[in-house]
Amino acid sequence: MERILITGALGQLGQEFIKYFIKNNIYVLASDIRSPKNKLNCDFEVANAMDIERLDNLVKKYKINTIYHLVAILSAKGEENPFNSWKLNMESFQNIIEISITNKINKIFWPSSIAVFGTKSGLENVNQDPVLNPSTIYGISKLSGEKLISYYNNKFDLDIRSLRYPGIISFESKPGGGTTDYVMEMIESLKKGENYTCFLNKNSRLPMLYINDAVMGTIKYMSTDKIKLSVKDSYNITGFSITPLELFEKLKEIGCKGNVIYKPDFRNKIAKTWPKKIDDSFAKRDWKWKADYGLNETLKETFK
Ligand SMILES: NC(=O)c1ccc[n+]([C@@H]2O[C@H](COP(=O)([O-])OP(=O)(O)OC[C@H]3O[C@@H](n4cnc5c(N)ncnc54)[C@H](O)[C@@H]3O)[C@@H](O)[C@H]2O)c1
Repeated sequence: MERILITGALGQLGQEFIKYFIKNNIYVLASDIRSPKNKLNCDFEVANAMDIERLDNLVKKYKINTIYHLVAILSAKGEENPFNSWKLNMESFQNIIEISITNKINKIFWPSSIAVFGTKSGLENVNQDPVLNPSTIYGISKLSGEKLISYYNNKFDLDIRSLRYPGIISFESKPGGGTTDYVMEMIESLKKGENYTCFLNKNSRLPMLYINDAVMGTIKYMSTDKIKLSVKDSYNITGFSITPLELFEKLKEIGCKGNVIYKPDFRNKIAKTWPKKIDDSFAKRDWKWKADYGLNETLKETFK
């Protein structure tokens, strides 16, 4: 029986994983550095992922055998203080790896990101194993994390798994400071008939993934027999690719009234170093990955 610890559980992804595990009667202990605003329907503990003793105690106390380590400072926010971002993203992951070895944790999930790619990665359609030259401290920490996965899995016979998520779109849980957050911000403003100032250029094309696909895909991947997984660091996965202009036009088409003004800032520079499209054929082949939500299906979820 799985007993799962989620770190960073109150973030955009964590909240959705909690819902999935509760709904499917899988034991989950949620933890975060802050307390939840509303009561959760599962065990919850405040824990700083930089505090290895605290994490170790929780794993022992709740007999945890699987960890979803979701703590991170994301791309745009990370640029405000690169030293802090590196420290949190790397040290917290090392803490999780260390306690996983001592407590014989069965499986660990650690998300990577499309931020690992860079201008040399063949951005028109990035394959599974391109040159990686990330431009942000976030991308550098994700690339380093991917290298740690191969290293520690080999050295200590661990089972750390990872997916390179594109921009995650969700409407109930809010995004935490990434370069693709404009999608949710634009939808929210235009839905209310308000104008939106977009921080990306109107033609910045980036890959996205609707939250239901992200959660279901991750669960499917985590339950795949290890022997089938040919990618030893992190799998490319994607849903659909869009530009701010395409999103705006689609929103107008379905009756939204607000306008969009484009004022690209530093996040546009980040976007220029990220893929327009992602080749996720290894994930499709190895563990039958398939996205169910395109742009139309995603918008239906918020306009229903
Ligand atoms: N959301 C995306 O679009 C996206 C895309 C690619 C990869 N990812 C990855 O998925 C993971 C989850 O992302 P998210 O969007 O849910 O992030 P988020 O920013 O929404 O949530 C992160 C959570 O971590 C918590 N946290 C911060 N510092 C902490 C600490 N020291 N100890 C414990 N908790 C702490 C925060 O309170 C927050 O609830 C991250 O690793 C991120 O890099 C996300």
